[in-house]
Amino acid sequence: MSDVDSREKKNMKKSMFAVVLGVLLLSGAWLMAAEEKKAAEPYDEDTYGPEAPIIWDKPVKSVVFDHKIHTQANELSCDSCHDDLFTMEAGAAQEKDDFTMETLYNGGYCGACHDGSTAFASNKRCTACHIGVRGKARLEGGTAAAAGGHAKE
Ligand code: HEC
Ligand code: HEC
Ligand code: HEC
Repeated sequence: MSDVDSREKKNMKKSMFAVVLGVLLLSGAWLMAAEEKKAAEPYDEDTYGPEAPIIWDKPVKSVVFDHKIHTQANELSCDSCHDDLFTMEAGAAQEKDDFTMETLYNGGYCGACHDGSTAFASNKRCTACHIGVRGKARLEGGTAAAAGGHAKE
């Protein structure tokens, strides 16, 4: 093999490497752009319900419900909850005397799904729903003191 031949081969290898590297970099950039777009995509309240979590304080403080988890993430339709289980009015349920764990355990309100088969059971993972005063303050972007509660609750 002459010197010229092997130099040409080397050059060809180099340029192939450059092309492959270029394609990888480009597709990487494209993937990153797609990820960014996904993250920046605005939450559509018409499609998924109110964005702000709903928090009840009766009978006990700081139980949370998040539409996003249920509609966007778990693809439940509005009518799986409205209006048989809940009316479209934040705070309505907590005005009812039967908004208790016993009713949930018997399949009412959240318990219609949180029964251990459709979704995790209502007698498990208490703190997933009961976020506490600190959890509430965190969601509302304040401090426990600002929420007017004792940190212990
Ligand atoms: C898994 C159950 C569930 C699903 C599914 C659901 N919601 Fe809700 N929604 C609730 C609960 C719970 C409340 C609060 C009711 C209460 O406090 O009594 C609520 C309240 C609301 C409210 C009142 C908010 C306010 O600030 O007064 C609106 C509006 C609403 N939902 C719209 C929707 C729409 C639109 C969909 C479908 C895209 C939907 N919901 C799907 C459970 C659900
Ligand atoms: C129509 C069915 C349905 C109803 C009613 C419902 N949920 Fe859910 N929920 C689900 C499903 C499905 C999931 C996702 C599966 C799972 O986490 O077990 C979920 C997940 C959750 C989670 C997510 C926990 C985590 O971090 O992974 C919380 C918290 C929650 N639900 C609270 C509530 C509360 C509070 C209520 C009542 C106000 C309620 N849900 C009513 C179906 C329902
Ligand atoms: C799927 C959501 C969810 C889970 C899980 C859950 N709760 Fe609840 N809990 C509620 C809701 C909704 C209420 C009524 C609203 C309020 O009190 O703010 C409530 C109310 C209560 C109350 C006051 C009413 C009553 O029944 O005496 C107690 C006490 C309570 N929960 C304890 C618990 C304990 C202990 C666990 C775990 C073993 C638990 N909860 C798990 C949603 C949940």
